[in-house]
Amino acid sequence: MASPSVPILIISSLLLSSLFSNALTSPKAFIFPIRKDGTTNQYYTTIQIGSNATTLNVGIDLGGNFLWFNSLDYFSAADTYRPILCGTKRCQIANLIGCVFCFSAAAPGCSNNTCADWALNPFTGTNGYSGLSTDVMLALSTRGTQYKLNFPFQYSDPILSQGLATPTAGLLALGRTRLSLQSQLSSAFKIRNKLALCIPPSGGNGYMIAGQEVYREPFRRISESMWTTPLLRNPWKGFGDEVIGNLSNTYFIGVKSIRVGGTSLALNKTLLSIDKVTGEGGTSLRTVRAYTSLHGSIYAALVEEFVKAAAGKGMKRVASVAPFGACFDSKTIKSGGDVPTVDLILQRKKVYWRFYGWNTMVRVGKGVMCLAFVEGEPNTTGPTTSIVVAGYQLENHLLEFDVPASKLGFSSSLLLRGTSCKEFGAAALDPYIG
Ligand SMILES: *[C@@H]1O[C@H](CO)[C@@H](O)[C@H](O)[C@H]1NC(C)=O
Ligand SMILES: *[C@@H]1O[C@H](CO)[C@@H](O)[C@H](O)[C@H]1NC(C)=O
Ligand SMILES: *[C@@H]1O[C@H](CO)[C@@H](O)[C@H](O)[C@H]1NC(C)=O
Ligand SMILES: *[C@@H]1O[C@H](CO)[C@@H](O)[C@H](O)[C@H]1NC(C)=O
Ligand SMILES: *[C@@H]1O[C@H](CO)[C@@H](O)[C@H](O)[C@H]1NC(C)=O
Repeated sequence: MASPSVPILIISSLLLSSLFSNALTSPKAFIFPIRKDGTTNQYYTTIQIGSNATTLNVGIDLGGNFLWFNSLDYFSAADTYRPILCGTKRCQIANLIGCVFCFSAAAPGCSNNTCADWALNPFTGTNGYSGLSTDVMLALSTRGTQYKLNFPFQYSDPILSQGLATPTAGLLALGRTRLSLQSQLSSAFKIRNKLALCIPPSGGNGYMIAGQEVYREPFRRISESMWTTPLLRNPWKGFGDEVIGNLSNTYFIGVKSIRVGGTSLALNKTLLSIDKVTGEGGTSLRTVRAYTSLHGSIYAALVEEFVKAAAGKGMKRVASVAPFGACFDSKTIKSGGDVPTVDLILQRKKVYWRFYGWNTMVRVGKGVMCLAFVEGEPNTTGPTTSIVVAGYQLENHLLEFDVPASKLGFSSSLLLRGTSCKEFGAAALDPYIG
């Protein structure tokens, strides 16, 4: 038998070298938890901000421009609150549109000569114009160390918080902007401007990682074998519609067709591409919508083909339950892996994002499950995106938004690999620590 002293020696030298490198090297990535509020279907994370490191839950918005919140806990512990003054470099970088003054006592949300912009509540369509400021945020690195950075945000009018999930105080931006979480961490710590997102279903835990990390198995293999597709930009720069958001901050991908089971849907291809002038059409990704929505004609084609393919699998159709267009007797559905698949075909026929029953069927009542896609409502006040891939379809997938490389990496359902977003946190922590 081998001497037991050898492995002990190896372990202790690994520990030593890791403690050493932790002291000498800067962080590579930061980790944040994600949960889903079952009542509103909103996804949120937890941040710590201000002189007293006030802990706040904030929704996550893949299309958001900057962090905004309103919290009395923070208000009473805001000694390090600093307005971003008009005409400063910081204001310029933020690309904000105006300058505000305030004629009451100075406090969070009330300061003079302050760089300002509209914040958007994408759940209600409310928006609010206020100044932006910075305060100290604590962020946990994947090595388990807390770091501080000055983080920009808007201390918002309380009216903006209406319609947010009860545990949350605001919304954290993960969009394609310089004020998003990953951009700010990237510039503060010179780490890669990349975001890995793994969102959980209700009652579960998920995580997001800003920066670049090598994961433990099985996530190492999953992330190395992901499909990638170009991230596209919608060039429309019109006034950010409250419901739509600022489309140029939103991540788009190029869906070329949709397949259900083995059958491609006959679709109007014009709807699938982004109109460079009007901003109409295309496919975006949003965490502030519960279910993927599709332009009426695409939705009708999806429902028709899905119902046909489901019948072939012995799924019995029952009366529809709004907002869903096709529902089934759940006793006739064997498992999440045994319903017709829905594929979004991307840049080539062989590159597709396949959704299984875990992400295509939702339980809506006793004995009834529905196809978890909805018909998108056209908006007359701004361009309508034809396909919005949303929360329920993203759950338990690993997604990597790599903006400098303009690439989205996506896995298939983690459940197929016998894992889930819950395991992603432990897999992302530095392999030599904890
Ligand atoms: C700061 O936090 C401490 C400990 O949680 C608490 O006792 C104190 O009241 C807080 N201060 C303010 C101004 O909120
Ligand atoms: C802003 O400036 C005005 C005019 O000088 C002053 O009355 C007001 O108190 C200032 N507001 C704050 C928040 O300092
Ligand atoms: C939308 O965002 C883009 C890029 O961040 C910016 O140039 C544009 O001014 C924004 N539009 C509005 C209406 O805020
Ligand atoms: C396809 O969609 C575009 C954009 O909505 C529309 O203008 C066009 O008429 C549609 N074509 C057909 C054949 O329906
Ligand atoms: C279009 O957006 C406006 C606000 O931008 C909103 O008030 C309206 O309800 C939306 N219309 C539809 C049909 O969604």
